[in-house]
Amino acid sequence: MASPHFLIMSSSFLYLFFATSSFSTSAATASGSGGGSWSLLHKTIGISAMHMQLLPTDRVIIFDRTDFGASNISLPDGKCRVDPHDTVLKEDCTAHSVEYDVTLNSIRPLMVLTDIWCSSGGLMPDGSLVQTGGYNDGERVVRVFNNSCDKCDWREIEDGLVVKRWYATNHILPDGRQIVIGGRARFSYEFFPKTLASGKAYSLPFLAQTNDLISENNLYPFVFLNTDGNLFIFANNRAILFDYSQNQVVRTFPEIPGGEPRNYPSPGSAVLLPLRIVQGKVVVVEVLICGGAPKGAYVNARNGTFDGALNSCGRIKISDPEPKWVMETMPLSRVMGDMVLLPNGDVLIINGASNGTAGWELGRNPVLNPIIYRPYNPVNSRFEVQNPSTIPRMYHSTAILLRDGRILVGGSNPHKFYNFTNVAFPTELSMEAFSPSYLDPNSSKIRPKIIFPVTQTKIQYGKPIVVQFTVQIQVNRLNRISVIMVAPSFNTHSFSMNQRLLVLDNNNTTKFVGNMTYGVNVTAPPSGRIAPSGYYMLFVVYQDVPSEGIWVVI
Ligand SMILES: *[C@@H]1O[C@H](CO)[C@@H](O)[C@H](O)[C@H]1NC(C)=O
Ligand SMILES: *[C@@H]1O[C@H](CO)[C@@H](O)[C@H](O)[C@H]1NC(C)=O
Ligand SMILES: *[C@@H]1O[C@H](CO)[C@@H](O)[C@H](O)[C@H]1NC(C)=O
Ligand SMILES: *[C@@H]1O[C@H](CO)[C@@H](O)[C@H](O)[C@H]1NC(C)=O
Ligand SMILES: *[C@@H]1O[C@H](CO)[C@@H](O)[C@H](O)[C@H]1NC(C)=O
Ligand SMILES: *[C@@H]1O[C@H](CO)[C@@H](O)[C@H](O)[C@H]1NC(C)=O
Ligand SMILES: *[C@@H]1O[C@H](CO)[C@@H](O)[C@H](O)[C@H]1NC(C)=O
Ligand SMILES: *[C@@H]1O[C@H](CO)[C@@H](O)[C@H](O)[C@H]1NC(C)=O
Ligand SMILES: *[C@@H]1O[C@H](CO)[C@@H](O)[C@H](O)[C@H]1NC(C)=O
Ligand SMILES: *[C@@H]1O[C@H](CO)[C@@H](O)[C@H](O)[C@H]1NC(C)=O
Repeated sequence: MASPHFLIMSSSFLYLFFATSSFSTSAATASGSGGGSWSLLHKTIGISAMHMQLLPTDRVIIFDRTDFGASNISLPDGKCRVDPHDTVLKEDCTAHSVEYDVTLNSIRPLMVLTDIWCSSGGLMPDGSLVQTGGYNDGERVVRVFNNSCDKCDWREIEDGLVVKRWYATNHILPDGRQIVIGGRARFSYEFFPKTLASGKAYSLPFLAQTNDLISENNLYPFVFLNTDGNLFIFANNRAILFDYSQNQVVRTFPEIPGGEPRNYPSPGSAVLLPLRIVQGKVVVVEVLICGGAPKGAYVNARNGTFDGALNSCGRIKISDPEPKWVMETMPLSRVMGDMVLLPNGDVLIINGASNGTAGWELGRNPVLNPIIYRPYNPVNSRFEVQNPSTIPRMYHSTAILLRDGRILVGGSNPHKFYNFTNVAFPTELSMEAFSPSYLDPNSSKIRPKIIFPVTQTKIQYGKPIVVQFTVQIQVNRLNRISVIMVAPSFNTHSFSMNQRLLVLDNNNTTKFVGNMTYGVNVTAPPSGRIAPSGYYMLFVVYQDVPSEGIWVVI
């Protein structure tokens, strides 16, 4: 078995120590911390970014709720939405969904007809966004945003779901369908598109077993497709490996040490760590879960006591015959954070608060500093605190990776309505980007630039991909090159559905071609179990610095 150190440790990393007393200020910021920079892209995009999905057109579909009343952006061409079911405005001429064009930094309002609040989604193999469920008149609706046209808009499928789903999690499957799991008081799962004409919801008792009767704590379960084709499903404080095709629990994982809840309304966040493919196989599959709130925190917050968030992460090798949680301590505690896989294999933990829980008015003390976790550094040198934002991103905030390596950050609305004044954490309509330090100007001399293949190239399972790139240095052999693929994920409520990073096998083929140009031949992922069919961003990473990505479709 090859060493798991596919990525290199940074030449120097900061090990930071914080006295707990530094957290007692109203916002937890860490002074003297280093790394990364922030830029404000828009003071207002007109809505609060509660859900985000990057499309292979480099546009981001963003939406919040239809029942806030008027948003701060009008529908185009004097259009209005007439909805007798809307609880606030029966006729609404404002938009509750927008399309953000990353290249142009521009916003286009979209028309969504039914309530998409606290819903779920993911990209289909053809690159269209399928989004499911929501609230009120939207609870059984499936909506498709097909990006095959330039000015596309939402198309809604009434009764698209068998049962109503609010706070569910979706995942794309190897056969190209999406599975939709759970939701408030829904201890079942179903598929889109439906296989049977009538459709069926299959029961999943695990969701009932992990449902805390007072606080729930198992909504938006963390779901990952394991490389054996089964689903890893984590809810509240424990997980199963689940064979959805047979409706069978294949394996039960131990409870996370401490037993504290990690899902909504006490959400930490979770990632599947990078999957390294060697000779057609992934030997090690690991899940990392960080943050959350202690048991009882939700009830306490409702009663006006804002418990300190969890500062622990649990990491588990789900590929081991006897998997065990290994606990680590973050330099900052956090609830409602988002975990984003960076192209160099690091994990960014961003957004959220250090007290209270998710839910209206229930969070306190924003955590303004992201932290980076380097999974393959030695224990005790994995975390690095990053430079802070100035904008609290509390309940209903989001973060996703863009093709240029930046992280798009938006949202935060802990109120029932849009409230801009007389509240501690005003509704945020702004959008920022966080640039990890690999985008610092002084990294540009070692930043690879992909010249081949061109973007939107089709690749095939198990077949070679010939990659060429330039680096502004001339050596015979480049060490520490990796070629990786990342799936664009659907982010909401502290979880990124379908987030997946694959390190492709390059069989040590890096070669100098001439004129600062290098070649590397990699093998595409072997199967849909390892990489479900669809669009991915492909990056070349040299010494921890990623190129700009290109889109590939498998
Ligand atoms: C949104 O619109 C309201 C009403 O016009 C206005 O008071 C508020 O300042 C606007 N907020 C932002 C962030 O643009
Ligand atoms: C998107 O549009 C294309 C072209 O019209 C169509 O073939 C495809 O099925 C659509 N995708 C979905 C998920 O509806
Ligand atoms: C806290 O909340 C629970 C459930 O909402 C309630 O039963 C209890 O009375 C509350 N306790 C206090 C001290 O307010
Ligand atoms: C946040 O949690 C810490 C640790 O439990 C506690 O000391 C502090 O008083 C809390 N802050 C608020 C505003 O409740
Ligand atoms: C938010 O605004 C609504 C009216 O738009 C108001 O009824 C509500 O009290 C405000 N909420 C807070 C927390 O101030
Ligand atoms: C870039 O500069 C920062 C300090 O500003 C330093 O920490 C970092 O190591 C430098 N990176 C490279 C690749 O030289
Ligand atoms: C890997 O490289 C070796 C030679 O170094 C070659 O024999 C082998 O076929 C290559 N494997 C793949 C999958 O390209
Ligand atoms: C590539 O090279 C490294 C270091 O020289 C070696 O450990 C590894 O086994 C090689 N991998 C393959 C697939 O040949
Ligand atoms: C070398 O590559 C650069 C771009 O990286 C290009 O502008 C230049 O024309 C190339 N020179 C030769 C001799 O191919
Ligand atoms: C990649 O494969 C192609 C075709 O098999 C071959 O011509 C080329 O030399 C290989 N490049 C590298 C960097 O190994």
